[in-house]
Amino acid sequence: MPSTDQPHGPLRSLDEWDDFVKSRYPEAAPGEAPGQKPFVAANADKKPEAFRDYRAEARASVKEFYRLNHTYQTREFVLQKKREYLARNKSRMGVWQAMEYLNTLVDDSDPDTDLSQIEHLLQTAEACRRDGRPRWFILTGLVHDLGKILCLYGEPQWAVVGDTFPVGCAFSPKVVFSEFFASNPDGRVPDYQTDLGIYEKGCGLDKVDMSWGHDEYIYHVAKDYLPEEAGYMLRYHSFYPAHLEGEYQYLMNGHDKEMFKWVREFSQYDLYSKSSERPDAEKLRPYYEDLIAEYFPPQLAW
Ligand SMILES: [Fe+2]
Ligand SMILES: [Fe+2]
Repeated sequence: MPSTDQPHGPLRSLDEWDDFVKSRYPEAAPGEAPGQKPFVAANADKKPEAFRDYRAEARASVKEFYRLNHTYQTREFVLQKKREYLARNKSRMGVWQAMEYLNTLVDDSDPDTDLSQIEHLLQTAEACRRDGRPRWFILTGLVHDLGKILCLYGEPQWAVVGDTFPVGCAFSPKVVFSEFFASNPDGRVPDYQTDLGIYEKGCGLDKVDMSWGHDEYIYHVAKDYLPEEAGYMLRYHSFYPAHLEGEYQYLMNGHDKEMFKWVREFSQYDLYSKSSERPDAEKLRPYYEDLIAEYFPPQLAW
């Protein structure tokens, strides 16, 4: 199994990207549905000075991360990564084993204050459980970021995390730091310059290639064992331009639009379940081993 002890990119840890997303979509006030309103619409009644400029505030490392992501995520790159990883011949691991493997990811995050990867997965799942979500929903929370093991296969950070977006068509200006798309070679491919690009109106997201990252990977690893709703939650949980900004509707079909309700529901647990109270992995393990065995075989193809 390949391994690395380098962060492979400008971010101190993969969490630096998650934290930046959270700062852009602050948790809703009591009474408002969290994570369900586009950022601008939710703040439309605020005075202009109340708007924060997230691009200006972002740390240099976050900016550099997005510059690399937006420059190098081309359609050709995505298709190549799909050929490489969706054959799923890298490894065979059970879910808990994959969680422990992901936890070996060494980065510069502070072990005293930052959550480990396993702790983020358990906190997300526990928040779903506390809310009385169905068992498959809790399990989806547990596995949603396991695709980040791509980092351990040596993939750079910009090919593992980041807000995802379709390739093969025009980039939405609402993708954060969209100005960095100016250096993406796909900007010079004539077929990709319209809203629809190579796709047909309402063709459905299943026909659309998304920028490559941990979402698409875990979707393919887990999809045969979980309900369709869970598949959407896994595959599009970083597609913030669509599920929180309402972009790219013209590529969706009616079924996608219906299913995105689940992606938005899930987003609140991913973004807002972080707390300083650390989950006790060994104590929780028997409950989650049972839940894993209810849906997944002992080993999955990665
Ligand atoms: Fe994620
Ligand atoms: Fe997450």
